[in-house]
Amino acid sequence: MKVLLADDDQTSLRLTERIVAKWGYQTITANDGRQALDLMDQPSVPRIAILDWNMPEIDGLEVTRRIKKDKSLPFTYIIILTGNTRQDNMVQAFEAGIDDYIAKPFNPDELRARLAVANRFVEYDNTITQQAELLTRYAGEMHQLADERAQQLIHADRMATLGTMSAGIAHEINNPNAFISGNIQTIDRFWDVIHKTIQDALDKPQSNSEQLRFILNEMPNAIEGISDGVSRIAGIVKGLKAYARQDQATLKPIDINDCILHALRIAKPSTKNKVNIQTDLHPSLPQFNGNAQQIEQVIINLTVNAAQAMKITSNPMLTITTDMDQNNQIKITTADNGPGMPPDVVDKIFNPFFTTKPPGQGTGLGLSISQGIIHDHGGKIDVESHQNTGTTFTIQLPALVPETVQ
Ligand SMILES: Nc1ncnc2c1ncn2[C@@H]1O[C@H](COP(=O)(O)OP(=O)(O)OP(=O)(O)O)[C@@H](O)[C@H]1O
Ligand SMILES: [Mg+2]
Repeated sequence: MKVLLADDDQTSLRLTERIVAKWGYQTITANDGRQALDLMDQPSVPRIAILDWNMPEIDGLEVTRRIKKDKSLPFTYIIILTGNTRQDNMVQAFEAGIDDYIAKPFNPDELRARLAVANRFVEYDNTITQQAELLTRYAGEMHQLADERAQQLIHADRMATLGTMSAGIAHEINNPNAFISGNIQTIDRFWDVIHKTIQDALDKPQSNSEQLRFILNEMPNAIEGISDGVSRIAGIVKGLKAYARQDQATLKPIDINDCILHALRIAKPSTKNKVNIQTDLHPSLPQFNGNAQQIEQVIINLTVNAAQAMKITSNPMLTITTDMDQNNQIKITTADNGPGMPPDVVDKIFNPFFTTKPPGQGTGLGLSISQGIIHDHGGKIDVESHQNTGTTFTIQLPALVPETVQ
């Protein structure tokens, strides 16, 4: 253990140094307060200092104050040597930061005992510092581990979504594929007859006419079946392309009310005579940065979903409103008075391929794509649904504040 000794009285400094060194401590000496402070600035700093109180310029108490204030120094145990141990004096010394004091002239046994205490203190401090470092390292490792686990979970979640998607895609494509191949088999069977009939017709007219009539009737169905299957597959692929949305659309300032009115015109064939659509559009909304086609796609999805959900609702109504909230967000709500959804369905509606429609009737991609589009626009989409009361979707999109309009 390194001990710093500071005293302007050379004789007593040498004497103290000799006895302290004899007890096995490594010593360094300073003749005044300034030198003592300079000696604290070295790679292996002394951890115990025995300072004479009275030294010229910077006295022992001031050295103590500066050492204790310096946050770059490790804990230093300071013993002050004083000829005046009056109570008020010692209060001042402890307030300056000393850890102990010895009255001059001192008894070497007492100094040895007090140095042993100092030694113990420094060792405790070393242990605590090491443990604190260890804890900080553990905390860092735990943090890193938590980050890694979070990444793994996100990855697992992605894989699960991918799994669900793949299962959904397989199911969706299998279905139209089944009737394409069914119809191809039919055409194949028909072809034998057609082939033979054409051949016969060439040889002896009017043979096989019954079969030919049957084929004439059935053939368009088979072809229609194939073309239906093909267009369903095309629809699924189109949905997936929209889902992947790699083509980053360019955004420009657009008007939400125009989008809604346009979307409603497009959705009309699926909604007219089925649902009464009311609009309550705020007349002076700011624009927002967006892709009009994509936002229209979202409105169409919500409108068509509502119309489909309200198939057996008496007086089906869908109200679409636009408004502005305090946080500079454009708010769009679509509220229907349809059957609503149970909570376990609500939890899943934004998942890709989640649908409650019979096989072949819905891809379950509509809301998942819509949510993706809204998120891409920096907005959010929420749903509130109560069974037998209806469903309300709320979309928020960040409005363009005047200075951001280009
Ligand atoms: N307004 C609504 N009222 C009740 N249920 C709804 C409503 N909108 C959506 N849903 C439920 O959410 C499910 C998922 O909707 P989503 O649009 O993602 O797929 P889908 O409509 O089933 O299929 P697709 O959009 O391909 O026709 C629907 O199957 C339906 O159960
Ligand atoms: Mg839908």
